[in-house]
Amino acid sequence: MAAVHPSRTDTWWRDAVIYQIYPRSFADGDGDGTGDLAGIRTHLPYLSELGVDAVWFTPWYLSPLVDGGYDVADYRAIDPAFGTLEEAEKLIAEADEFGIRVIVDIVPNHVSDQHAWFRAALEAGPGSPERERFHFRPGRGENGELPPNDWPSQFSGTTWTRVPDGEWYLHLFTPEQPDLNWSHPAVRREHEDILRFWFERGVAGVRIDSAALLTKHPDLPDFTEGVDPHPYIDQDEIHDIYRSWRAIADEYDGVFVGEVWLPDAERFARYLRPDELHTAFNFNFLSCPWDAGRLRRTIDDTLAEHAPVHAPATWVLCNHDVTRTVTRYGRTDTGFDFGTKEFGTPSDLQLGTRRARAAALLTLALPGSVYLYQGEELGLPEADIPLDRIQDPMHFRSGGTDPGRDGCRVPLPWAADEPSCGFGARTEPWLPQPADWARYAVDRQDTDPDSMLSLYRTALLLRRSTEGFGDGPLTWLPAEDGVLAFARGNGLVCVVNLSGRSIGLPPHEELLLASSPLDSDGRLPGDTAVWLRR
Ligand code: GLC
Repeated sequence: MAAVHPSRTDTWWRDAVIYQIYPRSFADGDGDGTGDLAGIRTHLPYLSELGVDAVWFTPWYLSPLVDGGYDVADYRAIDPAFGTLEEAEKLIAEADEFGIRVIVDIVPNHVSDQHAWFRAALEAGPGSPERERFHFRPGRGENGELPPNDWPSQFSGTTWTRVPDGEWYLHLFTPEQPDLNWSHPAVRREHEDILRFWFERGVAGVRIDSAALLTKHPDLPDFTEGVDPHPYIDQDEIHDIYRSWRAIADEYDGVFVGEVWLPDAERFARYLRPDELHTAFNFNFLSCPWDAGRLRRTIDDTLAEHAPVHAPATWVLCNHDVTRTVTRYGRTDTGFDFGTKEFGTPSDLQLGTRRARAAALLTLALPGSVYLYQGEELGLPEADIPLDRIQDPMHFRSGGTDPGRDGCRVPLPWAADEPSCGFGARTEPWLPQPADWARYAVDRQDTDPDSMLSLYRTALLLRRSTEGFGDGPLTWLPAEDGVLAFARGNGLVCVVNLSGRSIGLPPHEELLLASSPLDSDGRLPGDTAVWLRR
């Protein structure tokens, strides 16, 4: 067994800043248009200088990439488009030398239809033990021509596909992502092995995809809106799985972060009980509009729901599934909702960027850990992808009405004057970069003290070097309408002005950082945040 890294025995995850890497779009080491591990390895110094504590890699395993790698064909192999297992091991070790921990992404709800288990299940036919690892059922209707139940897919359309021998199989996402049967002991054993496989390779944590969807009602009953409990979201039985996973993580001092989209605070917090997951993404905060009252309520609710289970909150503004922050904050509706995404929603990017800068200081001052999605530190906007270049199945399954998620997955600009903006592609990158991408390039922002990158670097450095940020209590301070003001430990104060007018700052000894310049009379303009010391 690999020795436990001495620095892993602490509770680093309670207030870490974790940078999400979408390997396909981070940096292209071999120039073929797709990002890869070689590209990531060359940019480790950049991540170190940015000041992040850990990186989370979205899936890098062998995959037909129908859903960007969330369709895994083999968990123990790296997709050749990204590199090799040996390179992944090197990357984990090199990151460690920079003091950066690695979190991998596990997708337990489903596998790729190219996974050996699913191919065996298709071949073995109805009634075989191979099919029991999935949800195969006969159809309804006279000749079994109707799907076994009425569950809607997370990606629009039906959740059932019929195979040539007449049986149907369940897939909550695309037909290329068959759902595993989590009441089968081999499914549980296999995932426990996969966790060990990656912990043995020195990863510090695991992100759990679609973490509330694994277990299904054994009868797979029809779903009628409001039916309780839901036949596949947040079934009580799921917690038993995470208890067994926690025991494994504890052997390695590994940590979990769950992708748990649940509006019910009490149900959400169950995943964070001391013998289950360490943390889970805070999607209520991510979805919250740029509005002081709504943000304050979300922050209060978040802290209140985490307190009884003693889990730290996480703060997330965007990821590879949602509209980029500067674009969202520049719109009339500044919240996020999968159901309302459409083409052509206008956005004032200057306003959105100003707000995103203020939101960065808000987020980094809150108690708990923070997730930063690649390109957020560059202030990248959501890109418009030409229709004939869209790859995301969410777009196709919506019948073309949903623009899909490619707009936040465009290859990063590293160097303004190089081909593919320094992403590394010698040919066209897998997703096209917008014409003005060069203005966001790392090398342009690097030396500009007013850039988004400089703001993030300064904020991360201050957060790391100043006692009082991170884990610990938060106290709200009196503030006018439309203003968030709170104190952290050690005399630190964060003020965020969403009121639309300039306000006076509370008494303070020192101004540590401002997201935009103060007015000439020292007042705090709208859509601006400051960190002060009292
Ligand atoms: C999660 C991932 C998303 C993926 C889906 C299916 O929501 O974040 O990208 O499409 O799961 O695996």
